[in-house]
Amino acid sequence: MTNVAPAPLLQVEGLTKTFGGVLALDALALSAGSGEVVGLIGPNGSGKTTFFNVTTGIYKPDAGSIVFKGKNLAGASPQTIHRAGISRTFQRSRLSLPLSIFDNIMIGAHTRRFNGLVFNLVCRGAFKHEYERMVEAARALLKVFEPELTDRLFEPVMGLPMIDRRRIEICRALISEPSLLFLDEPSAGMTHEETHALMDNILRVRAVHSSLAIVIVEHQMGVIERITDRCAVLNFGRKIAEGTYREVAGNAEVQEAYLGAEL
Ligand SMILES: Nc1ncnc2c1ncn2[C@@H]1O[C@H](COP(=O)(O)OP(=O)(O)OP(=O)(O)O)[C@@H](O)[C@H]1O
Ligand SMILES: [Mg+2]
Repeated sequence: MTNVAPAPLLQVEGLTKTFGGVLALDALALSAGSGEVVGLIGPNGSGKTTFFNVTTGIYKPDAGSIVFKGKNLAGASPQTIHRAGISRTFQRSRLSLPLSIFDNIMIGAHTRRFNGLVFNLVCRGAFKHEYERMVEAARALLKVFEPELTDRLFEPVMGLPMIDRRRIEICRALISEPSLLFLDEPSAGMTHEETHALMDNILRVRAVHSSLAIVIVEHQMGVIERITDRCAVLNFGRKIAEGTYREVAGNAEVQEAYLGAEL
């Protein structure tokens, strides 16, 4: 009997996206397995965020397939893709600063939770029960990141340091209980110490949610080396290398793409 490897959770093939004359994704193939942390690296403008935007339905691909849990989601709406179990954070912070930590996290549950205004008005008991459940879910998530934040659930996000804001953004992505999480430069704008602490958090998330797949875009190579199982390197929308961090860091084409940058 031959052993057939199970299909990865996400299998992208031939993914292509152009913006006017710019080829942002050039027949990209990428996969992520359950429980795996994949690093997506490459110089500025190489297509990393576009990969997230196309895979989460913000932009429709010009060509290619995005097979997730065995279903091709290419061209599906962001809501459908979110409901299927793909969640993300954004390169630039998208928190609403006057809103509380809890309200910001709940924005991430919009495709999964609550049953609509009429249901909630008629079935207030069910609504209250669901609300309490969500408060507990938000607290449990925050506890993985920073236990002190669980006591500040109803305080506005305004005034919190950058690292806590990032933690809240990741909790917002996790509240919908995704199978696949995209993190777009989570360390942007943070100090070295904050970055290290946030990566400790991501390793804890990984330990707690062992089947969660993560694709992380990151410019800091120390971060990539520490938390990824495998890396793919993009340049002008094309995958130029794939392997462990050590393998890709030693690749001549990768080094040339970075023109002697930190690699
Ligand atoms: N909405 C858009 N309209 C036009 N061009 C776009 C759009 N989004 C991305 N691009 C272009 O596609 C290319 C890839 O951009 P993308 O943002 O995916 O790069 P990136 O690898 O995330 O870069 P960075 O590391 O700077 O975040 C760039 O040339 C960019 O200018
Ligand atoms: Mg980007």
